[in-house]
Amino acid sequence: MKSIRDAEVRHQTVLLREDYNVPTDKDGQITSDTRIIASLPTIKYLIEKEARVVIISHMGRPKGKDPLYQLDKVAERLSALLGKNVQKTANIIGDDVKSVIDQMQAGEVLMLENVRFDPRENSNDPEFSKELASLGKLYVNDAFSASHREHASVLGITQYLPSYAGFSMEKEIIELNQLLDRPAHPFILLQGGAKVSNKIGVIERLLDKLDVICIGGGMAFTFLKAQGYAVGKSYLEIEKLDVANKIMDMAKNLGKKLILPVDFLVTDSLEHSTHREIVAFDKFQDYMIGADIGPSSVELFKKHMLYGKTILTNGPMGIFEKEGFGTGTLDLYRFLGNFRDTHVLAAGGDTSAAIEKFGLSSRFNYISLGGGATLEYLEGKELPGIKPLL
Ligand code: 3PG
Repeated sequence: MKSIRDAEVRHQTVLLREDYNVPTDKDGQITSDTRIIASLPTIKYLIEKEARVVIISHMGRPKGKDPLYQLDKVAERLSALLGKNVQKTANIIGDDVKSVIDQMQAGEVLMLENVRFDPRENSNDPEFSKELASLGKLYVNDAFSASHREHASVLGITQYLPSYAGFSMEKEIIELNQLLDRPAHPFILLQGGAKVSNKIGVIERLLDKLDVICIGGGMAFTFLKAQGYAVGKSYLEIEKLDVANKIMDMAKNLGKKLILPVDFLVTDSLEHSTHREIVAFDKFQDYMIGADIGPSSVELFKKHMLYGKTILTNGPMGIFEKEGFGTGTLDLYRFLGNFRDTHVLAAGGDTSAAIEKFGLSSRFNYISLGGGATLEYLEGKELPGIKPLL
């Protein structure tokens, strides 16, 4: 991969793609700056080399210009973290942007407005890509988490400028490749999340490398239903029962252990519950909604992970976002956070949100910054934003 280390960045205007698609509250305040912090090594390196740093990022999925998704707060937070003013433009391209860039001094940092305010970003429009590229001399992609998108600032721009990977991008790829190419055994997947359909690719790709797969979260109900158990009103992908059966057959044929929860925390309502109890996996009644795995399942999963040398965790064990349904996820993430000689990697947007909510971020070896991008990479797909950097 062409690294930023190999680029002649000194005194150049460098277009740096970051992913500042950060979560915000209803007032637009940033609730997690993990992605901004992850971008600091690349930005500091460029400042040190006296480059003029022009940052391109998206935020959200706006339909045209939308004040909710302006990048002003991100620029402010980045300024605070860098201890250096980060100017922000009101536009993405155009003469006013060009004239601000022309006036930049060596080592200064500028942030363009949300690149998705222009619909030509998502359509990877060649003219828009060219106009973006005309703002600088070099392009650095440090946005692994956006690199599964065939967008102008990720893919199109690389047609027009020498393109390199930033430090955060490199780190992601090293971590994920280590997991894919040389996992130390036993290698265990703690798989959660609601949808079998979203995770099937990762499970299929990794199955022959894995020793044990523990399945929790909403998707466990699709597996249990496929085995003929009642799951009440729990989340279910009825059209994916064949997929669940296929995974169970594949695991059996390959001699891999596939472990399902043995109990659940159930409720009568996710919004206004009047009743909660722990029930065994084979005792669901019609009104019950499984909202978290139960304590015996937590202990069972721990027992299987205890001797793991590589553990990938992807997707929460229950609806951790809702009060009272996060215990299974919290207990297991605390447990994972205590490993010292085991390589523990957390992947996926909900997983990292849960780890952050529980204040466990510093306890993990590595938390991938990507959501969809990480899953696609683990599935073995070639990401369009990475190919031009090779
Ligand atoms: C992410 O948060 O996963 C990336 O920023 C990509 O966002 P998108 O799914 O809106 O393209």
